[in-house]
Amino acid sequence: MTDSTTAPSAVASGSFDLGGDLPVIRLGYGTMQLTGPGIWGPSADPEGAVRVIRRAAELGVTFFDTADSYGPVVAEPLLRKALHPYADDIVIATKAGLTRSGPNDWRPVGRPEYLRQQALMSLRLLGVDRIDLFQLHRVDPAVPLADQIGELKQLQDEGVIRHIGMSEVTAEQLAEASRTARIVSVQNLYNLAHRDAEPVLEYAEQNGLAFIPWFPLATGALVKPGGPLAAIAEQHGASPSQLALAWLLRRSPVILPIPGTSSIAHVEDNSAAAGVEISDADVEALTRAVAE
Ligand SMILES: NC(=O)c1ccc[n+]([C@@H]2O[C@H](COP(=O)([O-])OP(=O)(O)OC[C@H]3O[C@@H](n4cnc5c(N)ncnc54)[C@H](OP(=O)(O)O)[C@@H]3O)[C@@H](O)[C@H]2O)c1
Repeated sequence: MTDSTTAPSAVASGSFDLGGDLPVIRLGYGTMQLTGPGIWGPSADPEGAVRVIRRAAELGVTFFDTADSYGPVVAEPLLRKALHPYADDIVIATKAGLTRSGPNDWRPVGRPEYLRQQALMSLRLLGVDRIDLFQLHRVDPAVPLADQIGELKQLQDEGVIRHIGMSEVTAEQLAEASRTARIVSVQNLYNLAHRDAEPVLEYAEQNGLAFIPWFPLATGALVKPGGPLAAIAEQHGASPSQLALAWLLRRSPVILPIPGTSSIAHVEDNSAAAGVEISDADVEALTRAVAE
C-alpha cells in the first residue's frame, strides 16, 4: 500500500458544486460493495470495510454514495463508523425508495410516510443533523411522482435534507419532478459500455444537475483481467479501471463517478484515475474496444 502523502489523489479530478453550493471532489466512492452477497447482510470483513472507506477519504475522496437499502442498514453505519465525526468537506449522498425482500431483491416503495421514515432513519444511522443529498432511489409507479417528490420537499423545508436527487429516471421524469422541488442530481446506470442514459446526461448538463453514473465499471466487467480494456490499458500504462473512470471524467464536467470496491488496493487504483489523461484517439480506441 502507498501512503497518503505519495499516493495519487482523487483531488486531481476537480470539483463540482452540488446544487451550486456544496462542493465535492468529482471522483467519489460508492459503498454498495461493502455488504454481504446480493447486497444483503453484513460485510464478511466489517473492519476491512471501515479501512477501505477511510483510505478513500485519505486519498482525497469527499463524495460518498450510500443507501438505506445497502444491507439494509449496513453501508450507512459503516460510513458513520469510518468517518464520524465528519470532516467539513465530506458529503454523503444517501437514498430511499427501494425495499428489500432478500438478497438481490429490490422493490420500489415511494409512499410519503415510508420515505419520511427512511430519511429520519438515515439521519440517525449516519449521525448527521441534515442529509447532504437525499436521492429517490426509484420512482414508485404506484404513487404519484408529485407525492414522492413533495414529501422530499417537505423534508427539505423542515431541514432534514439539504439537496434532492433522483435515481434511474428519464429526462421527462426529471422535468416533471422539477415542478415540485429543485432536483440537483441524477444517478443512472452509465459507463463506457452502457450509454442508454445519454439523454439524461444531456438534461443534467443543460440544467446544472450532477450526473452520477452507477456501475461506472460495469460492476467489474469492464476491468476484469483479460477484459475489453486490458490491451489498451497495457499500452497506456494505466489500469483498465483508471481508463474507464478517466473516460467518464472526460465525458462531461457534470459527471461524478462513484466506483465501488471492498479492496484498499482498488481504492488506490481508482483514485489515481483522477490524474490519468486520455486523448481523443484513446477515446476512440476505448469506444471500439467495448463495441467488439
Ligand atoms: N442508484 C442505483 O440504483 C445504483 C445501483 C447500483 C449501484 N449504485 C451505486 O453505484 C456504486 C458503484 O456501483 P458498483 O460498486 O456496484 O459497481 P462498479 O463500481 O461498476 O464496479 C464494482 C466492481 O468492480 C470491482 N473493482 C472496483 N475497482 C476495481 C479496480 N480498480 N480493479 C479491478 N476491479 C475493481 C469491484 O470488485 P472489488 O471489490 O474486488 O474491488 C466490484 O466487483 C455503488 O457502490 C452504489 O453506490 C447505485
